[in-house]
Amino acid sequence: MRTAPWVAHFGLTRTPFSKAIAAKDLFRRDAHDEAVARIFHAVAESALGVVVGDVGSGKTVAVRGAVAALDPASHHVIYVANPSFGTRGLYVTIVSALGATPRFHKAEVMAQATTLLAAEEAERHRRVVIVVDEAHLLSPAQLEELRLLTNSEMDAASPFAGILVGQPTLSRSLRMGVFAALDQRINVRFHLKGMDLAESISYLRHHLALAGRPDPLIADDAAARLHRFANGLPRALNNAAVASLVAAAGAGKALVDDACAKQAVAELTND
Ligand SMILES: Nc1ncnc2c1ncn2[C@@H]1O[C@H](COP(=O)(O)OP(=O)(O)OP(=O)(O)O)[C@@H](O)[C@H]1O
Ligand SMILES: [Mg+2]
Repeated sequence: MRTAPWVAHFGLTRTPFSKAIAAKDLFRRDAHDEAVARIFHAVAESALGVVVGDVGSGKTVAVRGAVAALDPASHHVIYVANPSFGTRGLYVTIVSALGATPRFHKAEVMAQATTLLAAEEAERHRRVVIVVDEAHLLSPAQLEELRLLTNSEMDAASPFAGILVGQPTLSRSLRMGVFAALDQRINVRFHLKGMDLAESISYLRHHLALAGRPDPLIADDAAARLHRFANGLPRALNNAAVASLVAAAGAGKALVDDACAKQAVAELTND
């Protein structure tokens, strides 16, 4: 595959700051590790966990990394990338993911989901982990569906672990009156914050090292400017870093200096 001129300019072996990163290539900052530890805890307890964070803070990367590390022999992960599936309910998704054909009526498909979830644990000895990404988009009706599912067993054990991942508004909607019952079942909560300056600098180095340049390619003052622009949020930092590398390559510079960072920030702000 042909790489862009700026990638070649810096002698990078691949385009850095890409969206797709292998689990082994993740940047492991403290907050990331804490998020992963809490997700493991929710799974081990068959509880509900909530991970919130601003847009681009690394929630999906952290949750995907955590569930990828679960033993597939004893876990069945159902990953819902986006819950806005219109009239197709959460139950339908669960039933299909567990290999059955969803029945037509809602009451039936709910009973079906309950039975299948219980069977997965009791017969196949696999814990179902339902991850709902973009969970701030869950409608009140869907939150209610989820609440009913956690309720379905007469005994205390919940038939699955649920991880709700979303923007900070999710925490607020869960606290609202009608969902207090669901909120009480949440035993793990985590707010993934942006990185501090030192983490942002290590993050930039990490991604550049993955692309074959472990040496500092971005001057510290430039990195500090990119960090401030991005508020320490990984996705915004990716965009700012790429724009600054493009600016540096365009100016024929071997390093990203503060002038390049300034240019990058200006470009990203006046679109
Ligand atoms: N731990 C990490 N290591 C390396 N890169 C990361 C890490 N966390 C985030 N990133 C980078 O930041 C980008 C955004 O992360 P992610 O998609 O997880 O954010 P998000 O919080 O789920 O955003 P959204 O709210 O838009 O869903 C990723 O595509 C990746 O490039
Ligand atoms: Mg996400």
